[in-house]
Amino acid sequence: MEKIIVKKSSNLHGNIKVDGSKNSILPILAATLLCPEECKIHDIPNLQDVKIMCGLLEALGAKVEKTETNTLKVTAENITTCEAPYELISKMRASFLVMGPLLTRCHNAKVYMPGGCAIGTRPIDLHLKGFKHLGSDIKSENGYVNATTEQLKGRDIYLDFPSVGATENIIMAATLAEGETILENAAEEPEIVDLANFINSMGGNIVGAGTKTIRIKGVKKLHKTEHTVIPDRIEAGTYMVAAAATGGDVMIENVVPSHLQPIIAKLREAGVTIEEYDDKIRVKAGNTIKPVDIKTLPYPGFPTDMQAQFMAMLSKADGTSIINETIFENRFMHVNEMSRMGLHVKVEGSSAILMGNSHLSGAKVRATDLRAGAALIIAGLLADGETEITEVYHIKRGYSNIVKKLQNLGADIRYEK
Ligand code: EPU
Repeated sequence: MEKIIVKKSSNLHGNIKVDGSKNSILPILAATLLCPEECKIHDIPNLQDVKIMCGLLEALGAKVEKTETNTLKVTAENITTCEAPYELISKMRASFLVMGPLLTRCHNAKVYMPGGCAIGTRPIDLHLKGFKHLGSDIKSENGYVNATTEQLKGRDIYLDFPSVGATENIIMAATLAEGETILENAAEEPEIVDLANFINSMGGNIVGAGTKTIRIKGVKKLHKTEHTVIPDRIEAGTYMVAAAATGGDVMIENVVPSHLQPIIAKLREAGVTIEEYDDKIRVKAGNTIKPVDIKTLPYPGFPTDMQAQFMAMLSKADGTSIINETIFENRFMHVNEMSRMGLHVKVEGSSAILMGNSHLSGAKVRATDLRAGAALIIAGLLADGETEITEVYHIKRGYSNIVKKLQNLGADIRYEK
């Protein structure tokens, strides 16, 4: 079984380039199903999740072709089946994002219901509520959601919670619906804006993405396009925290600083110097890490996907920090692993109380999910001795070349079979 071995590494330094965003490219790939012509997409990150989504598109009849490094051409001229089976959906929750495009383009979609996962039960009720409002009949049987419609019709939809996935699925379904959909209390994440820009570049009519109210005027047909995916703000944030935690000085390239404001704000509070440029950010650690309190919230609040990495950094803060997780009900799986490395922490309900000044020492730990895995790497960089991380496939789902990129910054990290 593949492992990542990390040893204490102070003062990461140098330049690092961030890849295209995982959480942008997954809905964008799903949205290629809306269009019968070729979609050429650049800055595709080399990730396991992207491979799974491409496999799913091919199973549905789309042609997927890698033209150059990091560029894909997808042509969904013929959709040969509207059924996304268990074997494909069960590999990745985001596969459920094909439901909206299939339903609106083929007028029926049968997609296996994604289960919960390590970080929570993660229901899909808001996605289904949206599809129902747009005029589809929904049946759940034998683990499948079966949605059918004569023609989706634009409606006003209010989301009880600004779910990222539900916002994306509803935008895609409404793109080829008849009339206008007004989506209220929508998610405002940069990945939603990227999806809307992609669809608009194919001739879609979406206004307001990035705000709480999104208006989607249905169009009859989309046309070919070319699009570049936005940089991954969570990958950027992870390397920013790694630099700050190790006392380093790192230039993070290919970023959109405005997407990183909550992360920048919390790092500054922790005493880190951040210099912002047009498309790069320099992170210079201070002499100590100051304690900070964090509450995860929908964008533009602090991202849940960065909470675990901050926990690793705050282990060495000179005082108590509190991390309050409000998005997922079970996203403290890394706490057990970090405790075994010596983290002084107590979990009470949805809050983790970190005492600070923890002396971390290397241990055998498990990457329980993607971000937990990245956080354990950061903890390993701070710990005396050797940290051995197993279940590395979680990390590969969302970080391309993480080992090589950190080695280039001077980290003592390697894969071991
Ligand atoms: N929720 C519902 N009902 C729904 C949908 C969501 O109750 O119908 C709940 C979820 O259970 C969760 C909360 O709403 O408690 C937020 O879920 P959301 O739908 O916003 O998340 P998601 O679309 O499933 C995306 C990212 C996650 C990221 C979250 C929150 C992708 C592919 N995934 O998930 O990314 O944590 O938004 O920002 O975009 C990661 O990259 O490590 C990751 C988990």
